[in-house]
Amino acid sequence: MFEIEQKSIERLIQSYCSENAIPVPNELQWNPIPFSGDWGISTSFFQVAAQEARSGKKVNVPARAQEIAEGAADHIGIPKGFSRVEAVKGYLNLFFSSSDFSKRVIDQVLEDGNDFGRGESKNERVMVEYAQPNTHHSFHIGHYRNSILGEVLARLVEFAGFETIRASYPGDLGLGVITVLWIYEKRYKNQEPEEIHERGQWLLNLYVEATNMLTAKDDETPEEKEQREAYDAERREMYRKWDAGDPYLRELWLETREWSMEELHDILEMMDINVDVWFFESDVDEPSKAIVEELISKDIADDERPEGGPVIVRIDEKLGLKKEKYRTNVILRNDGTTLYLTKDLALAKDKFEKFGVDRSIYVVDVRQSLHFQQAFKILELWGFEQAKKCFHLGYGFVSLPEGAMSARRGNVVLFKVVADEAIQRVLSEIEEKNPEMPQNERRDVAQQVGLGALAYAMLSVDNNKDIIFDIDEALSFDGHTGPYIQNAHVRASSILRKAGEISGEAEFDYALLPHEIELIEIISRFPQVVQQAAKEYRPLVMANYAFDLATAFHSFYHVVPVLKAETDAMRTARIRLITATKQTIANALRLLAIRAPEVM
Ligand code: ARG
Repeated sequence: MFEIEQKSIERLIQSYCSENAIPVPNELQWNPIPFSGDWGISTSFFQVAAQEARSGKKVNVPARAQEIAEGAADHIGIPKGFSRVEAVKGYLNLFFSSSDFSKRVIDQVLEDGNDFGRGESKNERVMVEYAQPNTHHSFHIGHYRNSILGEVLARLVEFAGFETIRASYPGDLGLGVITVLWIYEKRYKNQEPEEIHERGQWLLNLYVEATNMLTAKDDETPEEKEQREAYDAERREMYRKWDAGDPYLRELWLETREWSMEELHDILEMMDINVDVWFFESDVDEPSKAIVEELISKDIADDERPEGGPVIVRIDEKLGLKKEKYRTNVILRNDGTTLYLTKDLALAKDKFEKFGVDRSIYVVDVRQSLHFQQAFKILELWGFEQAKKCFHLGYGFVSLPEGAMSARRGNVVLFKVVADEAIQRVLSEIEEKNPEMPQNERRDVAQQVGLGALAYAMLSVDNNKDIIFDIDEALSFDGHTGPYIQNAHVRASSILRKAGEISGEAEFDYALLPHEIELIEIISRFPQVVQQAAKEYRPLVMANYAFDLATAFHSFYHVVPVLKAETDAMRTARIRLITATKQTIANALRLLAIRAPEVM
């Protein structure tokens, strides 16, 4: 924000050095001074002093660095826009004038608007894969965590300056899928689920029913056993036929797959997620077989099929590891069918080669960590350089406190059930507390707040930690919650409505109150927080930031007079500050995929 001043100070320091026969630094490293009441930047002279020492001069580096810092401080005096300059222990500290700094921060936010905090373009293309549940199944709360985490990561990476591609990879193959087809044929033939977002649930119920029929009970009678085995034989036969490309089964498979995809699209739309690229597991099945052949010919995989075994990769052995780490993996069954792992080899290749990505992030349940380590290692052994550019972002499990909601069906907590409940609760609250809100607005606000509460509950926990989702807590207005942050945005909007049109610039040349300074300080940090969250793949960093900003604003709101400020200039400055706060909260919420309502 003070780049111009920084450059001219740099030139002053350089001329000071050259005038005094001190090695001239071509570029100075500036760091922000940790905030403690005023803002500043600092640089040090240890390297310059060390350079003198290396060139044969007899110097004590720390003492010499301090000497140069003092000389430089004298030389530059107090530049415009600064309030204080000091030389301490080899560092040169420059403190901004608070009113200048504040004005610049606020002007910057107002000028950049929705783009405030956006990083410079980094010339790197990143693919984020998420929202990839298996088909023929319903979308549960774990999928929701996955989807919101992936979407927020994509938004952060994109806003930080990377070109971002959103990808999904639904699993549409395997025994689970065939199980659904089997029971459908047996008991539900020609039926179709009615409502779109119920379609996955309907398929899930079929799956649960089938699993019951196919699982041995403790006190199974011989007749039951016989029955169950007959069912299983039918299912296996169906799998075989499907695999052989039976046209009827293929058609049924695609049709039923579409039902679950309709539900998925419906939910993604509700979450404001736009996937750019859809990969299906079935798309990479054939290509992955070609990779197996290559791995065999390169002697990375061992083909034990002649002895009746599968094709395997002894990863540890190939890497020369003594201890077991990546283990031995089957990559092709004896019957020639591929595994989940095999297909991930082909998928990784497609991502880089067809989409020209530079980095590939997989947002997948932490229980699949070993799977990804294995896949990436096999790729590396194969000679696929970009394996080093693949990252698995794992996340923990989501559950509900026991007995909290009757959302369980077939032992999964469905996202739709939880979302409906959250929205319904907000709606009742609005009816009670805000009856003057027009009917048509209520539903919209309830949806924004209900879903915001859910999203924040998922994002305010670090990736690798499990979540016990407590709906009462998530919906509270005064905890560490989405509605608490949204409410800060609503409050800011409401003061701004009351203030009406204002003219005049934000001039902070009065004694700023601690709550103002705190608020300006937090706003000024937003661009760095974007970079940090994107770099660490941690939406939590942004979630915490949004909470801190909301908290600072709520406190400001209680303490600092705005509409009744002492002078017109103060009133204007504070209104501008609130506009900037509202904008920054909105930007932070947008990155968290949470809506920022004007009223609630
Ligand atoms: N469909 C898988 C599941 O539900 C997740 C896919 C993860 N991505 C991958 N490239 N393997 O468990």
